[in-house]
Amino acid sequence: MNVGIIGATGYVGGRLAPALLAAGHRVRCLARTPSRLDGVPWRAGVEVVKADVLDGASLSQAFEGLDAVYYLVHAMGHTQDFERVDRTGAQNTRTAAEKAGVGRLVYLGGLGVDDPRALSHHLASRHEVGRILGSGTVPLTELRAAVIIGSGSASFEMLRHLVEVLPVMVCPRWVTRTRCQPIAIADVLHCLVAALDSSAAGSRRIEIGGPDILTYEEMMRRYAAVAGLRSRLIVGVPVLTPRLSSHWLNLVTPLPIGLARPLVDSLRNDVVVSDPSPLAALLGSYRPTPFDDALRRALSHIQDLDVSTSWIDSAPRGTAASPMPQDPDWAGGTVLADVRTMRTSASPEAVFAAVSGVGGARGWYFANWLWAARGWIDKLLGGVGMRRGRRHPDELRVGDALDFFRVEVCEPPRLLRLRAEMKLPGQAWLEWRVQRDEGGAVVLQQSARFHPRGVAGRLYWWLLWLPHAIIWRRLLAGLVRAAQERSKET
Ligand SMILES: NC(=O)c1ccc[n+]([C@@H]2O[C@H](COP(=O)([O-])OP(=O)(O)OC[C@H]3O[C@@H](n4cnc5c(N)ncnc54)[C@H](OP(=O)(O)O)[C@@H]3O)[C@@H](O)[C@H]2O)c1
Repeated sequence: MNVGIIGATGYVGGRLAPALLAAGHRVRCLARTPSRLDGVPWRAGVEVVKADVLDGASLSQAFEGLDAVYYLVHAMGHTQDFERVDRTGAQNTRTAAEKAGVGRLVYLGGLGVDDPRALSHHLASRHEVGRILGSGTVPLTELRAAVIIGSGSASFEMLRHLVEVLPVMVCPRWVTRTRCQPIAIADVLHCLVAALDSSAAGSRRIEIGGPDILTYEEMMRRYAAVAGLRSRLIVGVPVLTPRLSSHWLNLVTPLPIGLARPLVDSLRNDVVVSDPSPLAALLGSYRPTPFDDALRRALSHIQDLDVSTSWIDSAPRGTAASPMPQDPDWAGGTVLADVRTMRTSASPEAVFAAVSGVGGARGWYFANWLWAARGWIDKLLGGVGMRRGRRHPDELRVGDALDFFRVEVCEPPRLLRLRAEMKLPGQAWLEWRVQRDEGGAVVLQQSARFHPRGVAGRLYWWLLWLPHAIIWRRLLAGLVRAAQERSKET
């Protein structure tokens, strides 16, 4: 089928595009800023057209020849007046779809009882958009979901940041009472693709959810357990209003307040599937993902896609639940980094030889006694310590032990990445890239990266920041010196 996606630069749309391509459809992405799709890995497989749901004329052109259009748009976080803007966007889309003869609209909205007075502004607006889209002649498939579990999903990121940084949480009481039926992003994509099924005539509304119904408190506790954090103390109090809670959230998470406030407000409403039969029919033999498994996949890691190792080894990489390049800055977990560069007159080969000869008997170029002391502390904590040394004084292979590191990537003469195996409240990498700058000079870039676990991880990074910074600076200088000496010898 010829399928359009409005919202392909967003969290769900950006993951739906490759899923539709994989299912054999031709995909046209409608974006108000098409350049936002330049870097996505599936860009070559899709057509990209500039369109804005607030500009009806742009939609009419963009809809030409489409059998179905996905509506994965909301204005929340962009304007306080999101309800009015979303109303206009839905009206324009319905009218343009009718004019262009689009065969079906598919919309992903929010769960919750059908009573606007009982719902938060956000959920009431999501329902209203569904009503508007479905009130024309083009049949609508409206899917309704609660929290989507996957890296980059706004509601999941809120959960992630809260649990990661707060061992004790004083929450509004509804956090311990409201019921939610979260769903894995993989399951959402399965439902969205299946919703194209042309055998189902007319408009349909399908509530979708995963196999677990949980309170937000239970979700937070299970996140802590799956992420390997200490159990969280969660105290429900009657005095915290959604408004106060969103200010608090603004302090401890990087989510924009305009997005966090309506989301927090919605946590007061139960969001569970009330009629499971349409979902069962849509899923067929597909097995929905249990909450803990969805979490494991979402935790499989980090904004910087170049750091390829997952901190939960069983978690698959490159799934819809993983971070994507187009995700917003606040998505994908925290990576703290110390990145330094130094130019050298040595050849790239000499620089790489110096870098790959580090550690073992040759040492770490500065304060070797400190490295040894860190190794002893690690031993005392039950870790591997520094005693392993290295297999060969000059050669390295992927998988080799190197003091308390292990070689994760070795691509001479360009890239060496070591993963720390000492006991740490998080996961750490030390990496060197040998590059040339615009002027052709050889540059050695050294990056120490740390993915902290919980509060302890953050404290560890910031308390040791100064001594680490001195050690890393001297290490880089030592490597460049060694490379220059090697260059002179050859
Ligand atoms: N994420 C969840 O946990 C969750 C849960 C339940 C339901 N949903 C529903 O899923 C749908 C998609 O949500 P999401 O999480 O993917 O949102 P998102 O990441 O914030 O993406 C929103 C998309 O809407 C686009 N957009 C906004 N205004 C537009 C306009 N005037 N014209 C064209 N495009 C516009 C944005 O494009 P720009 O890049 O140009 O800003 C972006 O691509 C929404 O209906 C939401 O209610 C999401």
